[in-house]
Amino acid sequence: MSKKITIAIDGFSSTGKSTLAKQLAKQLGYIYVDTGAMYRAVALYAMQNDFIKPDFFDKVGLVNNLSSIKLEFKFNSDLGFAEMYLNGTNVEKAIRTIEVSGYVSKVAEVSEVRAKLVEQQQEMGKNKGIVMDGRDIGTVVLPDAELKIFMTASAATRAQRRFDELVQKGDSVSYDEVLKNVEERDYIDTHREDSPLVMAEDAVEIDNSYLTREEQFQAVLDLVNAIIETN
Ligand code: DC
Repeated sequence: MSKKITIAIDGFSSTGKSTLAKQLAKQLGYIYVDTGAMYRAVALYAMQNDFIKPDFFDKVGLVNNLSSIKLEFKFNSDLGFAEMYLNGTNVEKAIRTIEVSGYVSKVAEVSEVRAKLVEQQQEMGKNKGIVMDGRDIGTVVLPDAELKIFMTASAATRAQRRFDELVQKGDSVSYDEVLKNVEERDYIDTHREDSPLVMAEDAVEIDNSYLTREEQFQAVLDLVNAIIETN
C-alpha cells in the first residue's frame, strides 16, 4: 500500500476547495475535513442564541458559551462524506444559507473561537491520510502537510458559481448580493488579525478561473503522486 500524506487546501471562498478536497479524498481513500463547516456551525449557534444579529455581535456572550458547543463530523455513506453536527443535530444544510455566510467571517475573527477549532482540527490531523480545507490549514493548523494547495479565482467567477449553487438549492438571492458577500468575506478573511488568509510559502497556487474541475483534479492528483513517489 502506498504511503499516506497530509494535504492542506486553502484559498478564497467559493474557489471550489471542498469539491476538490472531496474528490481527492474519495480517489485516495483519505478522510476529508471541511473546517469552514466548523466555523459555519459556530456562526449558526451564535445566530440561534441571539449572540449575532444584523449590526449586533455579542462576542463576550459567545466566547463565554464556547464550552457548550459540541462539533462532530459523522460520515454519511450515501453521500460519501462526513456531515457537520452541532450539539447532536445535523446542520449540514442549515450552515450553507446566505444568512450564515453573512455572519461567519465575523465569528471566525474571534481568537477564542479559532483556538478552540484549531485544537480540534489538529487532533483530527494527527494521522496521515487526510485532506483538510480552510483558510489557515497550511499556515497554522497543519504546517507540516506534505502538500499545500492555495486556490484562487476572480471574485466575479466565484460569485457566479455560488449564485448558481444557491439558485439550484431554491434560495432566492440576487447575483449582486452574492458578489457583495464574496467581496466582504475576502476582505475580512485577508485582513483579520488572527491567522489572516495568506498563502503558505511552500504552497502551490492554482487559479482555476479557466480550469475545468477535471483539469484541476488531474493536476493536483499528479502533484500527490509525485510526492508519494519521492517520499
Ligand atoms: O470555506 P467556507 O466558505 O465554508 O468558510 C466559511 C468561513 O469560515 C469563511 O468566511 C472563513 C472562515 N474560515 C476560517 O476563517 N478558517 C478556516 N480554516 C475555514 C474557514
